[in-house]
Amino acid sequence: MKQVLVLYASTHGHTAKIASRIADVLERAGTPADVRRVDAKSDPVPADYAAVVVGASIHAGHHQREIVDWARRHATSLATVPSAFVSVSLSAADDTDEARATARKYVDDFVEETGWTPTRTASFAGALQYLEYDFFTRLLIKMMMRRGNHPTDAGQDYDYTDWDEVVRFARRVAELLPAAAPVS
Ligand SMILES: Cc1cc2nc3c(=O)[nH]c(=O)nc-3n(C[C@H](O)[C@H](O)[C@H](O)COP(=O)(O)O)c2cc1C
Repeated sequence: MKQVLVLYASTHGHTAKIASRIADVLERAGTPADVRRVDAKSDPVPADYAAVVVGASIHAGHHQREIVDWARRHATSLATVPSAFVSVSLSAADDTDEARATARKYVDDFVEETGWTPTRTASFAGALQYLEYDFFTRLLIKMMMRRGNHPTDAGQDYDYTDWDEVVRFARRVAELLPAAAPVS
């Protein structure tokens, strides 16, 4: 049985957690998942898989360059399998029209940059990971958060992801697979 590729880029580890949760749901649906962080050493080929899920997070307005390059390089092969793209950002955590439009634009930009139109897309709220940041990143993010009236207590992390939404999305991805099993 072919696997589903779950390929992700994650600067501070949160998108890695989301990728792992999606893979868990797929595995429970009876589809083995190959969860991989994108890197220069391996270059998985989409057509070798039953489906492909790609996840990336936003930093300074952009998804990680390595995953954009991978998707662009494999756009033709990606078009031959069911696929999904997940964008993780703090914009997706804000309940305003402007923030929603920004989160949507991150996905649109990815599609435009790569030439790949995924079967399903999602924007998930990410996390503020003060405990993971180096000194300068913590300072920068605290300044940004203070301006937006968001939490600035750097002694803890703040997880804004709706994990039920992640599970629902993963189930919708499982439905794309031939002979999809109902997922509990
Ligand atoms: C330095 C830095 C810059 C960021 N820039 C943006 C941004 O421009 N827009 C946004 O919506 N979120 C931004 N974020 C929030 C991240 O997308 C969010 O923290 C996400 O959960 C990170 O996921 P990762 O741990 O997988 O990299 C930024 C976070 C950091 C640390």
